[in-house]
Amino acid sequence: MTKIATAMKLENNTYKIQNIPVEGLAEKFGTPLYVYDADEIKEHLDRFRQGFSSVDLKVKYACKALTNMSVMKYLLKQGTGLDTVSISEIQMGLTVGYQPNDIVFTPNCVDFSEIEQAVELGVKINIENLSNLEKFAKKYGGSVPVCIRLNPQIAAQSNTDKVDWWHKQSKFGISLDQIDDVKALESQYDLHIDGIHIHSSSVIMSPEIFINGAKAVFDIAMQFEKLDFIDFGGGIKVDVGDGNEVIDVVELGKQLDVEFTAFCEKYGRKLQLWFEPGRFLVGNAGHLLSRCVVRKRNGGTEFVGIDSGFNQLIRPMMYGAYHEIVNTSNPQGDQQKYTVVGNICEIDNFAVDRVLPETKEGDLLAINSAGAYGYSMASNYNSRFRPAEVFVVDSEAHLVRKRDNYEDLIRNQIIID
Ligand code: LLP
Repeated sequence: MTKIATAMKLENNTYKIQNIPVEGLAEKFGTPLYVYDADEIKEHLDRFRQGFSSVDLKVKYACKALTNMSVMKYLLKQGTGLDTVSISEIQMGLTVGYQPNDIVFTPNCVDFSEIEQAVELGVKINIENLSNLEKFAKKYGGSVPVCIRLNPQIAAQSNTDKVDWWHKQSKFGISLDQIDDVKALESQYDLHIDGIHIHSSSVIMSPEIFINGAKAVFDIAMQFEKLDFIDFGGGIKVDVGDGNEVIDVVELGKQLDVEFTAFCEKYGRKLQLWFEPGRFLVGNAGHLLSRCVVRKRNGGTEFVGIDSGFNQLIRPMMYGAYHEIVNTSNPQGDQQKYTVVGNICEIDNFAVDRVLPETKEGDLLAINSAGAYGYSMASNYNSRFRPAEVFVVDSEAHLVRKRDNYEDLIRNQIIID
């Protein structure tokens, strides 16, 4: 059996999130249901911070992973800033109390008008293409600081991951052969470049590879005199229980702490070190609870049909992502092989040939590691409602988003004669 990737505990044959039996959550709030565990978020945040002891580390939560505003507010209380990719995300951050200065806007391929709006809102600006950088330079000159996102063309360990963005083919960032253009804009318009940003991909598994990438970034940073920070983005993988290696963040922190301190000495000033983790903070804190509603056999395959679908968690179908599945109703049952499918009217697999304890109609399954890019990528495809969301804080379960209803579904439709 694979190890449970999350803090969902099994006590006396009952699965619990903090001290709350998951069956109780499902009965109270209905299924399918997203449940987030605040303790798990906090533990990951603490672990992330653990390795860094000498540098001025700023963690900017990449809220695209999970834009529930109660979770965003919880992370604010834990002292994080916010990484945003749209004006709406900025507005959500401001609404829950983040200071504009603690929010960074790192959009990709957006119309310049969005950057203007972000400047109006007073947040930190990160630009990732020369076209917008030139427009920015012409409009603001040196009056508004700007961070630039680079594509450092550092080869990652493997190239099989769809989210492999340090790879030089990617659409992200300004490539290194355009640094001279950046420098030209800087001197022509007296730009105030206050940060250098890169976003690593999940395929970087070892601190050594990361550190090599970081050193390349430090070399580039030496060319810019007015920096306040270096931003290493997000992309740090969590252990999802699939047996794949993940980076040791504490070890990464320790090594980067030393390298960054050395860089700052060379640079002549102490800079801030930023990270924008999304999945690392909230990924394993989230569970999608869903009931088995149909058991059937076709050919040689035993299907477990659940009351969810890829409209509610698209990662298995979109990326072939592994999500651990636990039958919380029958923890000790005999192990059997099942294909777990959703109710969308096309291929809709959560897991193929997965070994689970014997599963019957009515059993409650927990699909784990669903906190990041679960709800935030959900849709109403097949005209089904998006699930409710519950946030467990200090062993109390709070409803933090209602399930959609029919009114929500048709709200913006206009029926013409
Ligand atoms: N910073 C930047 C600039 C990013 O583009 C991203 C993610 C992050 C931070 C946060 O990355 P994280 O730490 O969460 O890996 N939908 C995909 C993931 C897309 C990531 C998009 N950018 C998935 O479900 O795996």
